[in-house]
Amino acid sequence: RNRFRGKDYLAFKDMDREEIEFIVDLSLDFKKKWAAREPHEYLKGQVWAALFEKNSTRTRNAFQRAAADLGITTVYLRPDELQSGRGEPLKDTARMFDRYYDGLFIRTFGHEIVEEYAKWMDHPVINGLTTLAHPTQGIADLMTIKEKKGGYKGIKICYAGNLYNVCYTTMIMCATLGMDLYVARPEGMEPVQEIYEETMRRAEATGAKIVFTSDFDEALKDADIVYGMSHYSMGQAPEEVERLKKAFHPYQVTMEAMKKAKKDAIFMHCLPAYRGIDVTDEVMESEQSVVWDQGENRMHSIKGILAAVAR
Ligand code: CP
Repeated sequence: RNRFRGKDYLAFKDMDREEIEFIVDLSLDFKKKWAAREPHEYLKGQVWAALFEKNSTRTRNAFQRAAADLGITTVYLRPDELQSGRGEPLKDTARMFDRYYDGLFIRTFGHEIVEEYAKWMDHPVINGLTTLAHPTQGIADLMTIKEKKGGYKGIKICYAGNLYNVCYTTMIMCATLGMDLYVARPEGMEPVQEIYEETMRRAEATGAKIVFTSDFDEALKDADIVYGMSHYSMGQAPEEVERLKKAFHPYQVTMEAMKKAKKDAIFMHCLPAYRGIDVTDEVMESEQSVVWDQGENRMHSIKGILAAVAR
């Protein structure tokens, strides 16, 4: 079933349902091995580069632990220590990485950057977050939904937060797997056209309801999952951050908001969460919050992805 061997892992928009579910199942399998303390150094001898052009707690550490468990040696790279920081072209850097490493795990800015690395490298490239996609997060989220809700059928997600990478990955994910998604956001804030069109094309095939609404109550009603998200993104100008914080404030996930969802609704968040801004401390620490399990799943999901794509 593995169609990923030797391929890049860049975004859910490049994958179909079977491919996404394959990675979820593989990752859940690795989670079982982890719990049973069963050794799984299947990639012993491989060496991967990890280039992080933005901060990370979960993705970086999950990647390094997942790689260690698989027997992979990792080399952590910071852009300010590379010659690319002094203007060496990406295509030159990529071809050198390709000669040294068995793969590249990268967190960067524009999605075209990971696509460019993938173009110039034969070894697999894994996207650890771009402006357009967060596909390692998406697998961890699906694992969590499967574990907590038993599957995807009949699930309604209320997503409250910024309309960037995690939102785009969640849109494609819901449309592909047939889950309903209500994105609660201030009027006028819209997703990028490319992702919106692909989401709607897939939703038509699966029957998923994808709704953008400024009415938080409509999004919360009968929701099985309330997915909180930061109101702004890394690297935005302070005045833009202030504007977004103000605009998204009505969509802060509070206990009162959680009460409007289903009684057994869970709270998810990709983290980091900004308590008092996108979510309250009470919700984060509540029985409904599954964010720590979700965060742990980042490690198992990256392991699944590494095992699938490695040559
Ligand atoms: N969710 C997520 O990507 O977390 P980090 O930014 O800490 O990696």
